[in-house]
Formats: sequence, C-alpha cells, structure tokens
Amino acid sequence: MPLYKQLYDAIRQAILQGTLRRGLRLPSTRQISAELKISRNTVVIAFEQLLAEGYIECKTGSGTVVTNTLPDEVLQVQRQQFNGNRTVSLRSKTVRKLAPLIPAMLDPKLRFAPFLYGLPALDELPLDVWGRLLARHCRTASIEIATHGDPAGFRRLREAISSYLGVARGVRCHAGQVIIVNGSQQAIDLTSRVLADQGDAAVVEDPGYPGVRWVLQAAGIKLVPLPVARDGLRVELLLREKVKAKLVYVTPSHQFPLGVALSLANRLQLLDWAVRNNAWILEDDYDSEYRYESRPLPALQGLDRDGRVIYIGTFSKVLFPTLRLGYLVVPEDLVDAFVATKWISDRCCPLVEQAALAEFISEGYFASHIRRMRALYMERRSVMIETIREELGGLLEPWDPEAGMHTVAWLPPKVEDSQVSADAAKVGLNIFPVSRFALRPLPRGGLLLGYAAFSPEIIRKRVPDLESLIKTHVGDLGRKANQAGLQVAG
Ligand SMILES: Cc1ncc(COP(=O)(O)O)c(C=O)c1O
Repeated sequence: MPLYKQLYDAIRQAILQGTLRRGLRLPSTRQISAELKISRNTVVIAFEQLLAEGYIECKTGSGTVVTNTLPDEVLQVQRQQFNGNRTVSLRSKTVRKLAPLIPAMLDPKLRFAPFLYGLPALDELPLDVWGRLLARHCRTASIEIATHGDPAGFRRLREAISSYLGVARGVRCHAGQVIIVNGSQQAIDLTSRVLADQGDAAVVEDPGYPGVRWVLQAAGIKLVPLPVARDGLRVELLLREKVKAKLVYVTPSHQFPLGVALSLANRLQLLDWAVRNNAWILEDDYDSEYRYESRPLPALQGLDRDGRVIYIGTFSKVLFPTLRLGYLVVPEDLVDAFVATKWISDRCCPLVEQAALAEFISEGYFASHIRRMRALYMERRSVMIETIREELGGLLEPWDPEAGMHTVAWLPPKVEDSQVSADAAKVGLNIFPVSRFALRPLPRGGLLLGYAAFSPEIIRKRVPDLESLIKTHVGDLGRKANQAGLQVAG
C-alpha cells in the first residue's frame, strides 16, 4: 500500500474509533513528516483525502482539526465492533462473578447532595496551607522525592504517623511498621493478598463495609457474615459456631454503618480467638478521630500482645478522599511481605503529597484541623439529631452516635428503607438505606444520614422533607394490611 494511503488509513481509523476525538487539533504536515521521516508531500496527500471526505477540516487560527460534525452513525458503527458479547466472554471468571456486585456509580446530580454519608466538610479544608506545602515540595523536589521511593512510604511521613497513632490512638508501633498506601481500600487489598489464599474464609461485619467484601470476593475468599449488636460484632458467635477463618475484618471504634463501638470484653475475646485459631484481625479505624462525648477509644491494636492485628487508617475522612493516602501498621514479621506486595502492586505512593503531608502533621496543622472539625461536626450532629426528633418524631428513630460523620435512623417496622431512599433521590436527597450494606435481611430498615458535610441550615431545611416520603410508605403498609384483612374477611 502506498505510504500516503497507510497514513490516511491510520488517521481515519483513529478518528472512527474515537482515539482522535472530534475537534482535536492535529499536528502540522511538517511535524508529521519530520516525526515519521516521510516526505511532506506524502502527508499533504493523505490530509487532502481526509479533508475531501470530511474527516478533518481546516480552521483559521487553529490549523487542522478533526471534524466536529462527523455523523454519529459513522462513529457508532465503528464502536459497536468493540462492544459485542465477545468482551464479556473474554473476561476472567472472577470479574464475571463480581460484575453484578459492583455498584453503579453515584448519579452525578446526587454526588454532593444531602445527606450523603462519609463526606467531610469539603468547604472547611485547610487548602491554603495544603497548597503552600505542596508547592514548596514541588519546587524543591529532591532526588529522594522525584524518583521511585521506598514502597513502604516516605520515611518522615511514616515517623509522623507512628507518633500520632501512639498518642492519639494508643497504637503500639514504630515507624518501620507503618506502610503508606493509597487509602484503606489498597490496605485491605494488600492484606487479603498477603494473608489469605483463594478458598480461605474471612469474617465480615453484617451490616458492614462493602469495600472490604468486594476485595475479598475478588480474591476468591469466602465471606462469613456475622451480625452486629449494640456492643459491636457478635464475637461470641465465632466461638459458639466454631467459625474457621483466616481473617476477621472489624471497625471497632465506630462500626460501619451502625456506628456502635466494640466493647472491651468483645475486643479481648476476639484477640483470644485470633490467637487460638491462628487468624488475623483487620482493624479498620477509618474515622475514629471524630468522637464527641468521650475521648476516642484506643485502638484494638494497642491491646494485641501476639502480633495478630493489622491496623488500617486513612486520610480520606480527616482531609479528603481523593488524596488517596492511608496507612497500614503491621506486625514486625509481616513488614517485608507487605512492602513487597505494595511494590508489585504499584511501586509506591506519590511522594510530593507524602512529603507535604508529613509536614502538615509535624507542623501541627493536622491536629488543629481535627480539633476544628470535631467542634463543627459535633454541632452538626446535634442539629441532625434534634431536627429528626422534632420534625420526624415517631417516624424516624435516630441512634445518637457518639462518633463519626453520620447517624443511622431507624424507620417504622416493615417500611422498606430502599424504597424511601429511592423516593428521596427523586427530591434531590442522597440517603443510603442500611439494607444496602447488609448481606442478610435486617429486622428493621434504616437510613444513613451524613451530617459532616452539611450546614445546620441545610440540615434543618431538608430533613423535614423526609416526613412525607416516609408517611407515604407507612400509609401504603396500612392500606395493604387493610386490603389483606378485607380479602381474608371476604
Ligand atoms: C469503613 C470504611 N473504611 C474506609 C473508608 C475509606 O476508604 P478509603 O481510605 O479507601 O478512601 C470508608 C469510606 O467510606 C469506610 O466507610
């Protein structure tokens, strides 16, 4: 095939497949000829043909661009070739099994809508300081920062975290046991790979955090769901039902999503069970910085005398989730295995951010941000609880959370929380039903109401909107019961 035709075909294909998008400016014929080492004339002929067929156009001031008005049918015909069943059958068995579990992405209109749980107060972030620190570390990036770093993380950040954890969370560790990861999600992923094999079992809280379930299932690990009571995971069932598992995932300071704390008796029993069963405990301490009435509960890791606990923390709640920085604290004899697995997975976390964060902590900005947010969230939490009690008394029963960034409020018996949540979405509210996090049916439906990211004004204004939504469902139940009664009577 002549050279001009080869070039024409390559560009045409790239346009049709969307690799060269509509409106994209193409390099000049001179640049292309220099880069491909072919004559400029050959390039000009290829361009002329593309022009004549309407794939590209010349725009004064912007050179040659991919035509904006390329008919959709042309593009779709080409794309369909890649969207058929072929790709489904080529996917791995694991992905095929996981596909139905992977949640639909949040509706973009509801992404920041009240009362999405888990969002920190994004408008209160100390972005000035953060920006200054980032800029400084970018400007003065040393070799240490600009090249692949230690997969365990930036040393000064690991030191800052180990000191912070010792004082604030009662975690017993030195900096060498701290491994920096891309958020809790990567910490969970690494733990499942280091400590469990396909076919092993892992205990999870039910209701519980779906992020952990997806990782475990992707790794071929069987889930053993255990219920949660007012004093946390029902550890006694581990013993009573003689559960055999490699791993137990717990959120002891503030159970997700119910918000309860694991009692001391349960903590000790869990540690004892882990030792006897040669199992590991994965402690996810995701938002324990926010405890209001009393001092934060010390971490379970601090009670561990046998090196059974893998401790996970994240900066997603205290700073923001897209920072993607979190940490693992692992028993000393597991450090090498975790670090090697991190290196295989993605080499290391971004170093400029790690350096900036190390300074953010050591200069005291982190502690003062937590103090400020604790006061703010405490106020928002009181407003949320009061508003629910005043406006929705009898329809919603809030659990007054001593900690965290959301409250769980229970619906009247038999009202389906998923239906209330779907109706809430129609009026611009993003409220997750508790059942979304449960593997087995719950005795009662409930709603997760995040308050940290929403001002008292928004809370007072929008919480009352739930009244009519819930009443409709209570009314429906009444009607259904009446109809059933009439049918029976008939
Ligand atoms: C229980 C739990 N752990 C961890 C996280 C944070 O995950 P990451 O650090 O990956 O952002 C969340 C976020 O909602 C969570 O609910």
